[in-house]
Amino acid sequence: MFTEEMLKSMKILEETRASRIGLEPRRMTAEEKEALLAKFHPDYIKEQFAELQVGPNKGDKVPLELADLLQAASRIEGMDIDLSAPDYETDVLIIGGGGAGASAAIEADNGGAKVMVVTKLRMGDANTMMAEGGIQAADKPNDSPAIHYVDAMGGGHFANKPELLYKLVTEAPDAIKWLNDLGVMFDKTEDGTMVTTHGGGTSRKRMHACRDYSGAEIMRVLRDEVLNRGIEVVDFTAAIELIKDDKGQVAGAVLQNMETGKLLVAKAKTVIIATGGAGRLHYQGFPTSNHYGATADGLIMGYRAGAKLLYADTLQYHPTGVAFPQQIFGALVTEKVRSIGAMLVNKDGEVFMNPLETRDVSAASIIRECKERGKGVDTGDGGQGIWLDTPMIEMIHGEGTIEKRIPAMMRMYGKYGIDIRKVPILIYPTLHYQNGGLEIGADGTTAIDNLYVAGEAVGGIHGRNRLMGNSLLDIIVFGRNAGRNAAKKAADISLGEMTLSHVADFAKEVEAAGLKGDIVSPKLLPDYVRK
Ligand code: FUM
Repeated sequence: MFTEEMLKSMKILEETRASRIGLEPRRMTAEEKEALLAKFHPDYIKEQFAELQVGPNKGDKVPLELADLLQAASRIEGMDIDLSAPDYETDVLIIGGGGAGASAAIEADNGGAKVMVVTKLRMGDANTMMAEGGIQAADKPNDSPAIHYVDAMGGGHFANKPELLYKLVTEAPDAIKWLNDLGVMFDKTEDGTMVTTHGGGTSRKRMHACRDYSGAEIMRVLRDEVLNRGIEVVDFTAAIELIKDDKGQVAGAVLQNMETGKLLVAKAKTVIIATGGAGRLHYQGFPTSNHYGATADGLIMGYRAGAKLLYADTLQYHPTGVAFPQQIFGALVTEKVRSIGAMLVNKDGEVFMNPLETRDVSAASIIRECKERGKGVDTGDGGQGIWLDTPMIEMIHGEGTIEKRIPAMMRMYGKYGIDIRKVPILIYPTLHYQNGGLEIGADGTTAIDNLYVAGEAVGGIHGRNRLMGNSLLDIIVFGRNAGRNAAKKAADISLGEMTLSHVADFAKEVEAAGLKGDIVSPKLLPDYVRK
C-alpha cells in the first residue's frame, strides 16, 4: 500500500527516531512567524477573497465561496409564506443541534422558558461530535484564567474581543465542573485528578480530554440531557431565513423539512443561532475535518437580517489532517498526538518546527516544507504530506500509551492496515474551523434585537487564530450564556406583526449591485455530485 518513496523515507525516520527524543527545537520569533504566515498561510492569498458589496460588512473581505453565499438569492425568494398561522410557537428558538445549541437549550430550560431546537440533520450531528483533543480550562494550581487569557490573546494575534475572551477563560473552570457533574467521563488519575496536557500555544497543561473522542463524549452527555428534559427537538428541519417583526426585532424563523421540502413557520420571542462552522464550503479547495452540515448557514441568515460579521476572512487550517490514505483524506488527526510526543518530521527525517507553535504557524510551516523546500512526501495521488512520527509516543511513554490515550486514532488508521504504533502517518493541513463569524457582545446578543449567537458561528472570541481546546470550551460557555440570557429576555418580549421584508430588501440591494445570479443560500448541504 505504501509507495517506494514512502517506504524509503519511513526508513530514514526509523533510523533517526531516537535522536528526536527530548529534542526542543527553538521557537520562531514574532518576525519569523509573520513572514512565514504572509507567504504560506491560505488566509494571506489575496485572490481567494472578495470584497462584499452589500450588507452590514460592505467593503470587507471574505472567502470567495462565502461571498457568493452571503450575496446569493434567498431560498424563499418568490414564495408566498403565510406568517399569520405559525406551525410552532416558542419562547426560545435554537437553530442548531450541536454542543452550543444543546448547552443553550439546557440553560434556557433552567430559566423556565419554552425551548425548541431545530436541526437540519439530527441532534448531535455537529462539529462538537467530531472534536477530539480536548477542552481548555485553567483549573490547576500552577495555572490561572489570567494565564489562559494571555495564551489565547497571543495565539489570536491580539485581535480577540477582550470581553468575550475574559468570559471564556473566567468561566472555563465552571464549564468543566458543569460537564463533569452532568456525567462527562474526563480522563482522570486513580485519585480522581483530571489529566491535563499541553496544546499548541498553551503555556500550561490545561487540556482536559476524554481519550481522543472528547467531543463525542461531551455531545453524548449534552444530547441525553436535552432529550431527558423533554425539550422539543425538531430533527431534519433546517432554518432557512430569520423572521422579524414590524419593530425590527427577530421573531422566529422560516423552516424547511429536509425530506419533504415543506416550509414551516416558527414564531419565537428570542432566537439563538448555533449553526456551527463552514468546513463543507471547502475554501480554496481544501479538504475538511468538519461534519457534513458545516455550510455557514447561520452566517447567511444572520447577515441578511442585518447582523455584522467579525473576522470572516480568517479560517483555521488544522495542521494535521490526513494526507494518506485517500479514504480518510482531510480527517482530523488530533493535536493531542503531538501533545503526547509525536513530532512533525519532513521526508529527510528533519524536525522543522517547535511542536508548541500555534496552529496557523504550524500549518504554514508544513505547507512551506512541501511547497518551497521540497521536503514533502508524495501521497501517490498528486498530493503531498509531512510525517507525524507516532511511534515516538511509545518510545517516550512506553508500550500501550497509544491504545490508552488516542484509541480513536489507532482505530481510524487500523481500518486501513496502518498501525500508528509502528509507522508514522502522513498529514497535511485540513480546513477545520472558522475563526470569524457573527459579532456578539458578552451577553451573546447581536446588534439585532432578540438575536443571539453561540458556538462556532460567533466571531471575535478567538481573534484571528483559535488555540486547540478553546472551541469545545466556547460552545459550553457561550452556549450556556446565550441560553440563560435569551430565556430571561423572552420573558419581557412582546412581538409585533411578523414580516420577511428584510429578505426582500436585501434581495433588492443584491440586484442593485448587479450581483443577481443563480446561487441560492443558505447552502444547507454540500454538493458532491461529480459534474
Ligand atoms: O486537534 C484537535 O483535537 C482539535 C481540537 C480543537 O480544534 O480544539
